[in-house]
Amino acid sequence: MNRRNFFHIAAGSAALAAAFQDDAIPRAAAASETVSARKPEEVAHDEDYWNEIRNAFTVDRNIVNLNNGYVSPAPKPVQEAMRRYLEFSDMGPYHTMIVQLEKQIEMVRVRLAMTAGCDPEEMAITRNSSEALEIAQFGIDLKPGDEVLTTNQDYPRMLTTFRQRERREGIVLKTISFPVPPPSMDDLYQRFERAVTPKTKLILCCHITNRTGQIFPVRKICDMAHARGIPVIVDGAHAFNHFPFKISDLDCDYYGVSLHKWTCAPVGTGFLYVKKSRIAGTWALMASGKSQDNDIRKFEEIGTHPAANHDAISQALVFNEAIGIDRKAARLRYLRNRWAHRLRENPKCLPLHSEDPAQSCGIGFLSFKGPDTGKIQEALASKYNIVTARMKHEEYDGLRITPHIYSTVRDIDYFADAVERELKNS
Ligand SMILES: Cc1ncc(COP(=O)(O)O)c(C=O)c1O
Repeated sequence: MNRRNFFHIAAGSAALAAAFQDDAIPRAAAASETVSARKPEEVAHDEDYWNEIRNAFTVDRNIVNLNNGYVSPAPKPVQEAMRRYLEFSDMGPYHTMIVQLEKQIEMVRVRLAMTAGCDPEEMAITRNSSEALEIAQFGIDLKPGDEVLTTNQDYPRMLTTFRQRERREGIVLKTISFPVPPPSMDDLYQRFERAVTPKTKLILCCHITNRTGQIFPVRKICDMAHARGIPVIVDGAHAFNHFPFKISDLDCDYYGVSLHKWTCAPVGTGFLYVKKSRIAGTWALMASGKSQDNDIRKFEEIGTHPAANHDAISQALVFNEAIGIDRKAARLRYLRNRWAHRLRENPKCLPLHSEDPAQSCGIGFLSFKGPDTGKIQEALASKYNIVTARMKHEEYDGLRITPHIYSTVRDIDYFADAVERELKNS
């Protein structure tokens, strides 16, 4: 079937679209095949192709959701997989869920490790990145006076975790400030290097921040830290299946991810990578026995829990593979640039994300010169049904804008129109 016929047939009625959602993975793979000879940046604005991908989702089209960074919808095949696992669980659940479905976590581990670029024996499946990162943050022994280094734009819960250790154990949390956007990746690196002292015993850094979507020079920070014997925890909540990378290339010690963000896996899924040499020396958040000291599975000892959520992760991975990470990253960047390049011409707008493709991807950040951010966000929600995320930081304020692969160009233009209209009145 040639490309035009393929997309022509794909553009059917609503009933047909619903039927397509059930075989959305083979359809996405077939659509990808038709564009495989073209550059991802070219396919990024091929609406025929992205329409095929969009058809996999069952989102409410009466709302323009630009807050996928918080949590993303799962496409229909992932919803269906989860539903089947849940139904089967309730036929037991001991002999169905505990005995049969729980075992499948081993295949999920293998698939995740293949995508992430690590050994399956370094991959623990968690419920989100909060759990993943807190395992590492609480699991590393620190003495009173030991310093932990991070930034003041790391995720609030991760900062709270170390602040609790400050109160409880007398450790010292040091935070670095950095401008948005920073002058360069090297500037970010230099800030970390300058802040390290002989007392620094642990570093936490984001792979990509949840605010302005700033990507950090993780490998360089890890090399610098390792030369001083300091382990590094990387907060990759927003990175996995957002832009291409392999954990093995980062050489970090711990890496935490939420799979209900850019991977579109069921809500309540994530993972923690722990470098093999670090497993034995890291305490589990919920206790595990001595025999499990060297076993990555010790971090999964959380008591009885649903198997459906983590088993359906594989379906989400296959869906992502059908699209391809380079195409996905290029599309997310294209959507971000589409509104940002238009609104940056408005004298009342100031996008704060980096434009450098090495430093950013699909997360965009819009601040305002003069108008009240809260009022603009409220107007976008109440008058236009546009959902955004306000990110008020001690150093800046604005709206984080995160479309996803199901977002349309019309959604993006509608958002830019709405902002321009509101700014005219402000
Ligand atoms: C950078 C970062 N780290 C950690 C988290 C925690 O993610 P979750 O709530 O899925 O555990 C988030 C959530 O938005 C985040 O943006």
